[in-house]
Amino acid sequence: MSTPAGTTPDEQPDVIETEHPDAPPPLDSEVAQVVAPDRDIEVAVGDNLVEIRDLTVTFGGLTALDSVSFDIRRGEILGLIGPNGAGKTTCFNAMTGVYKPSAGSVELEGHNLGGRKQHVITRLGLARTFQNIRLFGQMTALENVAVGLDARHKTSVPGAVFRSPRHRREEQDTIERGMALLEFVGIADKARDLARNLPYGYQRRLEIARALATEPKLLCLDEPAAGFNPAEKDELMALIRTIRDDGYTVLLIEHDMRLVMGVTDRIVVLEFGKKIAEGSPQEIREDPKVIAAYLGEESDDGAA
Ligand SMILES: Nc1ncnc2c1ncn2[C@@H]1O[C@H](COP(=O)(O)OP(=O)(O)OP(=O)(O)O)[C@@H](O)[C@H]1O
Ligand SMILES: [Mg+2]
Repeated sequence: MSTPAGTTPDEQPDVIETEHPDAPPPLDSEVAQVVAPDRDIEVAVGDNLVEIRDLTVTFGGLTALDSVSFDIRRGEILGLIGPNGAGKTTCFNAMTGVYKPSAGSVELEGHNLGGRKQHVITRLGLARTFQNIRLFGQMTALENVAVGLDARHKTSVPGAVFRSPRHRREEQDTIERGMALLEFVGIADKARDLARNLPYGYQRRLEIARALATEPKLLCLDEPAAGFNPAEKDELMALIRTIRDDGYTVLLIEHDMRLVMGVTDRIVVLEFGKKIAEGSPQEIREDPKVIAAYLGEESDDGAA
């Protein structure tokens, strides 16, 4: 099971997108201990894990992100919301090295991420999922997770070619940890299925498992519930809470206000590339600027 460390599926042509939701079975929360037994479990909301300062991204004449600053505190679930085109995904892309910011900085535990390659940023502890699902469609679910796990392995190329004991240990470790991760997100029964054949809900969860496999300090989820029905959204909320309770910090882009208000500790609101509000779900719900921003498009379920 060898996959190129640090490879991201957006470099691959074999990207699948599926539209029909399907509910996976309930998740098994205890597997997290198997996945990452040595983690420093830190559930309490603490110091700043990420500091974003004056982050700006321009595309030609368009300023998609305009001098945006906010912090992400260790152990929190932070919501990033805003109307369509507000700059949410652009913010993820600037944080994860997909786009080079025009100005400003992103610091993860004091490391400036600006200008670093995507795989370096992954190693520093930042993982993400994609608004449009991106999986290696011709690989099994387990192999997709292995891509994330391989980003952590240390075997040299000769070690892998000659199947050194260390390489064999790592291969076994990859299978065990990969299966544990699939169990954790509730899709272990489809471990050997090709990603492209998985039901939509499984693909969304597989993306989360693959991101978790890189042992991120910050997990960024870009509309993970898109296309889900209310019951599936509830299951996803439970999964996100479990992920946080296992010591991860989560940045969540999501349009569904019930989900956002139900699962986040704090929320940052973007509109036309600018931050217009930041606060608790309660504060955000009552903020006149946020209400106006959402009334400006379509009044969403409880947004205003
Ligand atoms: N690669 C790109 N080239 C040019 N313009 C872009 C690019 N990516 C995003 N944009 C523009 O930047 C703005 C912000 O887009 P972005 O995708 O970040 O919004 P978003 O908040 O994620 O919206 P949505 O809720 O629809 O996903 C939009 O006007 C979009 O058209
Ligand atoms: Mg987006």
